[in-house]
Amino acid sequence: MALLQLEDLHACYRTEVYGISRSVRAVDGVSLELYENEIYGIAGESSSGKTTLIKVLSGTFKPPLRVESGRVHYNFGSFAVDMLSIDPEELRQNVRWKQISYVMQGSMSVLNPVRKIMRTFEDIVRTHQGIADKKSFVEQTRQHVQRLGLPPDVLDLYPHQLSGGMRQRVAIALATVFHPSLIIADEPTTALDVVVQRGVLQMLKEIQNESANTVLLVTHDLAVHANMADRVGIMYAGRIVEEAPTAAIFQRPRHPYTAHLIRSLPSIGDKTIREGLGGAPPNLASPPNGCRFHPRCPLAIDRCRTEVPPLTTIAPQQRVACHLVTEAG
Ligand SMILES: Nc1ncnc2c1ncn2[C@@H]1O[C@H](COP(=O)(O)OP(=O)(O)O)[C@@H](O)[C@H]1O
Ligand code: SF4
Ligand SMILES: [Mg+2]
Repeated sequence: MALLQLEDLHACYRTEVYGISRSVRAVDGVSLELYENEIYGIAGESSSGKTTLIKVLSGTFKPPLRVESGRVHYNFGSFAVDMLSIDPEELRQNVRWKQISYVMQGSMSVLNPVRKIMRTFEDIVRTHQGIADKKSFVEQTRQHVQRLGLPPDVLDLYPHQLSGGMRQRVAIALATVFHPSLIIADEPTTALDVVVQRGVLQMLKEIQNESANTVLLVTHDLAVHANMADRVGIMYAGRIVEEAPTAAIFQRPRHPYTAHLIRSLPSIGDKTIREGLGGAPPNLASPPNGCRFHPRCPLAIDRCRTEVPPLTTIAPQQRVACHLVTEAG
């Protein structure tokens, strides 16, 4: 049984500027499943709709972002949740933090700048569960951060007294307080340098290993997915164009866009200048017809300009949206 069944999600930003309304179709027909005890990576260039997708999955979306259609169904074992119809109070009380937690790029949105870290833990635990005994809460929190490899003294500091990497580790520690079924991390290491990044990712991986929960890891950085993810979904212009187990994606990418992303990865000792793809991702207020990648695709055929290639299962756990791949069989 899947932890999440996402079916044909369409979400857009409706904005009105000087009386002219505009609709940006940021997520346009995405379906996927997440299973228990896996790390699922979502990759894709900036503006491909990754953050929009996880705003919907985490139930944190608000206008101008609107869900037009689709189904977002969670099965947490003891209860199920339909994210698009859940009562906001039920979402706040029983789902957020406890079943789904969300780690964002730059952790200041969850850490209160004028409170010591311990107070932020206290605020979250008090709101979502209550604190019967302050002394044992403090002790448990110290044990929790220590178990995750953080010095418990960080709890006595203010966010600005911590490095960016340490703040991000604290945000992950906060996200795991209630041992949620799903941890969603959106570009959790993008602002960090490579060495610090490695430590933060390692922490996330160890947590996943120990708690066997599900992690949805969103980053444009494919090298991170290569090291972290069990399966990867590649987004382009609001759609998933390829999904496969990580080894399959890297060994034999099937979609021309995925192949381009993988070819552009730097490899050690290789000094050749890599060829760019040319062009830019489309404007999602008026995306191209047919395959959205066709204006940039070196392999495009006539059909690509008019017909949308459906995301088709071509092997167990492998889906691709490209006419050439499905035609070849
Ligand atoms: N608040 C907003 N209002 C209007 N358009 C938005 C807003 N946030 C994001 N977008 C647009 O939605 C598209 C997808 O953005 P996003 O989901 O942030 O992509 P990613 O996370 O892959 O970089 C982009 O075209 C972006 O400009
Ligand atoms: S459907 Fe056509 S344009 Fe799109 S990726 Fe495949 S070959 Fe390229
Ligand atoms: Mg983003």
